[in-house]
Amino acid sequence: MAGGFAVSKPGDGHPQFNGKITWYVWICGIVAATSGLMFGYDIGISGGVTAMDDFLVLFFPSVYARKHRAMENNYCKFDDQRLQLFTSSLYLAALAASFVASRVCTRFGRKRTMQAASVFFLGGSALCACAVNLPMLIVGRVCLGAGVGFGNQAAPLFLSEIAPAHVRGALNILFQLNVTLGILVASVVNYLASSVHPLGWRYALGGAAAPAAVLFLGSLVITETPTSLVERGRVDSGRATLERIRGTRDVGDEFEEIRAACARAAELNEQERPYRRLARPESRPPLVIAIAMQVFQQFTGINAIMFYAPVLFQTMGFESDGSLLSAVVTGGVNVVSTVVSILLVDKVGRRKLLLEACAQMLAAQAAVGGIMLVHVRADGAPTKGWSICIVVLICVYVSSFAWSWGPLGWLIPSETFPLETRAAGFSFAVSSNMLFTFLIAQAFLSMMCTMRAFIFFFFAAWIVIMGAFVLALLPETKGVPVDEMVDRVWKRHWFWKRCFRDDADQAKVNSTC
Ligand code: BGC
Repeated sequence: MAGGFAVSKPGDGHPQFNGKITWYVWICGIVAATSGLMFGYDIGISGGVTAMDDFLVLFFPSVYARKHRAMENNYCKFDDQRLQLFTSSLYLAALAASFVASRVCTRFGRKRTMQAASVFFLGGSALCACAVNLPMLIVGRVCLGAGVGFGNQAAPLFLSEIAPAHVRGALNILFQLNVTLGILVASVVNYLASSVHPLGWRYALGGAAAPAAVLFLGSLVITETPTSLVERGRVDSGRATLERIRGTRDVGDEFEEIRAACARAAELNEQERPYRRLARPESRPPLVIAIAMQVFQQFTGINAIMFYAPVLFQTMGFESDGSLLSAVVTGGVNVVSTVVSILLVDKVGRRKLLLEACAQMLAAQAAVGGIMLVHVRADGAPTKGWSICIVVLICVYVSSFAWSWGPLGWLIPSETFPLETRAAGFSFAVSSNMLFTFLIAQAFLSMMCTMRAFIFFFFAAWIVIMGAFVLALLPETKGVPVDEMVDRVWKRHWFWKRCFRDDADQAKVNSTC
């Protein structure tokens, strides 16, 4: 690629292409990122709705009865498999949908996939808001899940592909920023809706239609990514789009690289389907990283807080109102800290953010576990002082997640696959996220019931493992153009380089990688 670059940015060691960060790129990025808003709204809304009595009476009368029994064990009062299924069904549906979405993404483009997501969302929110029985409610959640599967597959890829390399992190994290905004808006909606009887929960669930409508309308004005256009044979419009989003006609070098990546991908895909190619040793580095980033992201324990914050805070002895309000506070911290990530990710890099966060999350989890162990008995509440202390520690924990594992769990898998396996590989990231989100959503209340305060030590132990993983196996990808990851990152990494073919000894590649 000698001579293929226009500017060399001092300091980061990686040459950059020509072109500015145009307003059009930001607008496209902001619209695509609203896909995250829908995801976030659904994460945030279920915990609050399941804490609302009107909702419980209608769909889960036994949980309602248990919740109001005075002597019920604090840690167990919300432990109900069907209630957990309400939260988790969405993630199972999203898991299945992500594999379909990866094909739709390759065949019809990132933009169409996001449009499909918004339609699923509109249908799902209507069904949930009008539900008269549990099956109808679950079908609505499944529709929303299909929307999450499609949206989460397409939006991060879209963002990574339209962004100039040196701001790719920031632009991609707009997705996560929207996730956090969605969660926050949902907590506020829950807080307000909880005092509207008996229809409050219907408004809360129906509210998911608002971000879906924004995405649907917005997607009519955004462009398709140049890569997806060229990949689907629309070479001229691919170049015209690249000129438009870079704000210059001088995009020859970058366009050539996209074209070369598409030509290579077409040739390879003719020989072998992308999912089969993922089984090859050279696909292992990005695949292992993509899956691990998402599995670890969930094992930070974040969704124990995001889904069940109101329930968790009630367990700690807050009144129903106070617990929803605390969820609003943690949601606010989540949003603000994600902005920190946008500002830092392309400067300090991915690895430093992840490692700092591991230390901060570990300390906070261990402290919450310790306080709960000593001060939250099964049948009584902690004092006000300790309760506030727990909320503060949870904010410390959430802030570090929000500038690290939250956004980077989506960014890194979307930027590290070569084009020939990008959509298929990324679907493993989405589906791993959904699978482990499902497991946490389904199991957390039962785990809290049996493990009690030790649940926080359980997550703390995972944080140690993920810190070691980052130290040893995660390469820095800051500033490297997406289509150059193989040569500049994987082939140079002390461990992952062994996955690449040394024609002299292919057997050795297989056995060591
Ligand atoms: C995760 C979600 C989580 C959210 C919290 C996302 O990146 O995938 O599972 O609830 O961050 O902000």
